[in-house]
Amino acid sequence: MNELEDKEIQERIKAKGDLPRHIAIIMDGNGRWAKMRGLERIEGHRAGRESVRDVVRACGELGIEVLTLYAFSVENWRRPRREVWALMRLLRDTLYEEVDEFNRNNVKLMAIGRLEGLPKASREALFWAMERTKDNTGLVLNLALNYGGRVEIVDAVRRILEKGYRPEEVDEKVISAHLYTAGLPDPDLLIRTSGELRVSNFLLWQMAYTEIWVTDVLWPDFRRQHLYQAIEAYQRRERRFGMTSEQLRGEDGGAR
Ligand code: IPE
Ligand code: IPE
Ligand code: MG
Repeated sequence: MNELEDKEIQERIKAKGDLPRHIAIIMDGNGRWAKMRGLERIEGHRAGRESVRDVVRACGELGIEVLTLYAFSVENWRRPRREVWALMRLLRDTLYEEVDEFNRNNVKLMAIGRLEGLPKASREALFWAMERTKDNTGLVLNLALNYGGRVEIVDAVRRILEKGYRPEEVDEKVISAHLYTAGLPDPDLLIRTSGELRVSNFLLWQMAYTEIWVTDVLWPDFRRQHLYQAIEAYQRRERRFGMTSEQLRGEDGGAR
């Protein structure tokens, strides 16, 4: 896609309105991408960095508020040790190397997950990068690391109990405010690459009304044109939140 085409599509998306405020992505298929090329799985993870870079830039240009990327799940520790450590090293190096690019693009880095469970070197790189980008006011790039939707809810319940809430005080707002994502809008659009039709323990609470878009494209092949396809599909959908189409179009004749 040339730059002119790119700007044209961006303008079309912006003109349509109804931009998702928060996009979440399950970046999947790195292993398959590598295998197809006779490479080691980690080469797929490495290649995925370029996809991240392109998608982060495009989200910033479009004015998306939050992009959450599922980078490492609590279940991913079950992978071969070699792959886990290679991923952790890749995370550390990427964070150190990308901070200047984040700052050039006004990107603020955040993270969700059991961050204390990350190896020290990766955790230090993460906190260093968050500190260096904390004053940026553009896209919030939220990395899900050692993240699990269920443990997130467990951690929220624990904190609510520790604070001594009474049962009748606990409602959806209180739970939302104790999740790792406190203060962020719920995702409007979930993208999953590599064709798998599951949520894999990602943002379980927050996903209650998220629109889902799945592509067969493997994460290392994913670029901004795929992101645009997802957003334009999202913009064509009707989000009903339990209501009827007629109500949403104001055609219910005032019937209540
Ligand atoms: C996603 O790609 C990256 C992580 C889970 C860290 P995979 O490594 O799961 O790739 P496939 O699913 O095996 O192809
Ligand atoms: C989900 O991908 C986790 C991340 C993308 C970090 P997986 O590849 O681990 O998911 P499953 O296990 O196939 O569902
Ligand atoms: Mg996978």
